[in-house]
Amino acid sequence: MFVPDLLKGKRILITGGGSGLGKSMARRIMELGGEPVICGRREGVLEETAAELSDATGGTITWKPLDIRDAEAVDATVGAIWEEGPVDALINNAAGNFLARTETLSYRALDAVIGIVLHGTAYMTLACGQRWIKDKRPGNVLSIVTTYAWTGSAYVVPSAMGKAGALAMTRSLAVEWGPKGIRLNAIAPGPFPTKGAWERLVPRDDLADVWETRNPLGRTGEHHELTNLVAYLLADQSAYINGEVVTIDGGEWLAGAGQFNFAGMLTDEDWDEITPKKR
Ligand code: HXC
Repeated sequence: MFVPDLLKGKRILITGGGSGLGKSMARRIMELGGEPVICGRREGVLEETAAELSDATGGTITWKPLDIRDAEAVDATVGAIWEEGPVDALINNAAGNFLARTETLSYRALDAVIGIVLHGTAYMTLACGQRWIKDKRPGNVLSIVTTYAWTGSAYVVPSAMGKAGALAMTRSLAVEWGPKGIRLNAIAPGPFPTKGAWERLVPRDDLADVWETRNPLGRTGEHHELTNLVAYLLADQSAYINGEVVTIDGGEWLAGAGQFNFAGMLTDEDWDEITPKKR
């Protein structure tokens, strides 16, 4: 759906780029001529992904091991990446999450998730933003949030708190940094299957079915549907979109929100009974 050189020459830093959705984004960016720099905690995973994607696409990809919870490591690593060449965009994709009853969480459990989702996202955004502003270069930040960033969600409270903060950061900096040529947007994906998320968030197989099919379209998202949206928001052609969050969830969150959506459970007979008869 795009010209093949849509992202030609763009260096795009992706946190959590070694696996899951981040890896799919890196692949799509390479297919469109961009050059991802993937970061993650597991060096072996980054190395394997980089080799696989450069074989598959013939494109350029580099990687740096990084735990984004560590502010000093973030600054040092982003500095090292900049020395090889400035980046054009940052994708805040790395996340941490698991299903838990909140009253059982230890402080360390809370910190593990918020450290990645909120602090890590902020550290990365600051590290890139400060360099773009200093160099007087344009920048683009795309943060992957969730629909429960605005609805909240039971049983994933640290993640909901972190994602809400990442969305607030996006909207705040869109205004503060817009005049400096830096735009910030977010994407709120619904159920796009990945090993990491499903292992941590689907406690029983029968509940996977519920999560995957309860949206109005009755299916999960395809990775290419998400990565094409990412490509559009990274492209110069979307330059006037700033401070926005784009939901891509098949209508999932609205299905849970509308007060009378339950009427979808009515049968044809029920409707016949409640509909006034024409005289
Ligand atoms: C309760 C838990 C727990 C669980 C870990 N902890 N898992 N507590 N229930 N299931 C506690 C540990 O006991 C420990 O506390 C503390 O959390 C830190 O755990 P560690 O394993 O030492 O931390 P670490 O190795 O840094 O791992 C971080 C992590 C892990 C967040 C816990 O799950 C992770 O690495 N996740 C990264 C990938 C990921 O989560 N992907 C899914 C994203 S999905 P104590 O007190 O015992 O020391 C997503 C999408 C949401 O965000 C939207 C979907 C549509």
